[in-house]
Amino acid sequence: MKKYLAPSILSADFLQLGKQVQQVEAGGADFVHCDIMDGQFVPNLTFGPLVVKAVKRITSLPLDVHLMIKNPDALIPTFIESGASFVTVHVEEVVHLHRCVQHIRNLKGYPGIALNPSTPFYAVEETLEYVDLVLAMSVNPGFGGQKFITSTLKKIEKIADFREKNGLAYLIEIDGGINQDTIKAASDAGVDVFVIGSAVFDTADVEETVKMYKILLNKKN
Ligand code: DX5
Ligand code: ZN
Repeated sequence: MKKYLAPSILSADFLQLGKQVQQVEAGGADFVHCDIMDGQFVPNLTFGPLVVKAVKRITSLPLDVHLMIKNPDALIPTFIESGASFVTVHVEEVVHLHRCVQHIRNLKGYPGIALNPSTPFYAVEETLEYVDLVLAMSVNPGFGGQKFITSTLKKIEKIADFREKNGLAYLIEIDGGINQDTIKAASDAGVDVFVIGSAVFDTADVEETVKMYKILLNKKN
């Protein structure tokens, strides 16, 4: 199965955001991951639809919008109007998850559900047949540059097994602490989409780093 790279602009230099998005695109990135934080669901604040809209204007890559916010339903239409393709909400926040996923789909977005590291697989099991993407957080969300939480790999295996047994086709995404030391184990566990923030943007040549990860991901064992 194809492996996708989704650089997270959370770790970009915001004074050079347009240029850095173009560099990841030139390097062969597949999606641009946008981390939306509200200072409530997570202890950090980032950016909103205005920045998403600006990024959309300078790239042809699909935008993968990860909503780490309270009451995401209220802002889903705005993010889709701003150019989001994938819209991922957290199961820990959304009470009526099935309704929320349908809301995203009705607005022509691709719905995703995210699980924090301590949230068990069974919390999303009933909803998996309705989504296009499942995001397993491998750090506690809120900040870039944190250490990978290894137990996520077991959860990824369960998500991958469930997909196979039920003939489903959602993408499995991992987010947090992905770098050259952790990417292979994640890939072997069944991840399709790799979010990488600091390990892409905290390097001297962003485009070359993206190319390197693409080669690494598509290399046969
Ligand atoms: C964490 C965010 C991640 C973050 C990943 O709350 O959802 O997307 O940017 O950053 P790294 O790759 O530095 O762990
Ligand atoms: Zn994210």
